[in-house]
Amino acid sequence: MAVELPWALVPERWNEGLGTEAAVAAVETARRLGLSEVVALTLRTNTASRRVMDKAGLRLMDEIEHAGLPHLLYRLKLDAPEAP
Ligand SMILES: CC(C)(COP(=O)(O)OP(=O)(O)OC[C@H]1O[C@@H](n2cnc3c(N)ncnc32)[C@H](O)[C@@H]1OP(=O)(O)O)[C@@H](O)C(=O)NCCC(=O)NCCS
Repeated sequence: MAVELPWALVPERWNEGLGTEAAVAAVETARRLGLSEVVALTLRTNTASRRVMDKAGLRLMDEIEHAGLPHLLYRLKLDAPEAP
């Protein structure tokens, strides 16, 4: 099962690492729950969100339409063995 990870913080707390901390914790929870993959969607222009995805280990897979807009689809497969 794939689960979508969303994230949003109040602007006064941006760029403190909290988004990444939350994303990494969500990935770890998904792994513990035995989910096979997590996905995340963002606009191409959302550099901060794309950076959070990168830092949480998700990788760009595709460009898809979502809510009537082109979005980037990132994915992390969890059923593969973890890198050492
Ligand atoms: C996306 C969001 C959750 C990120 O949270 P955050 O706590 O600011 O993220 P972090 O501090 O962990 O990391 C942000 C990274 O993006 C980078 N970044 C932020 N704004 C940037 C910009 N305009 N251009 C380039 N890089 C940018 C930061 O430098 C940091 O990368 P680094 O660690 O390599 O320096 C936050 O910006 C937010 O709530 N945005 C509004 C809601 C939203 O867009 N949610 C995502 C919907 S898909």
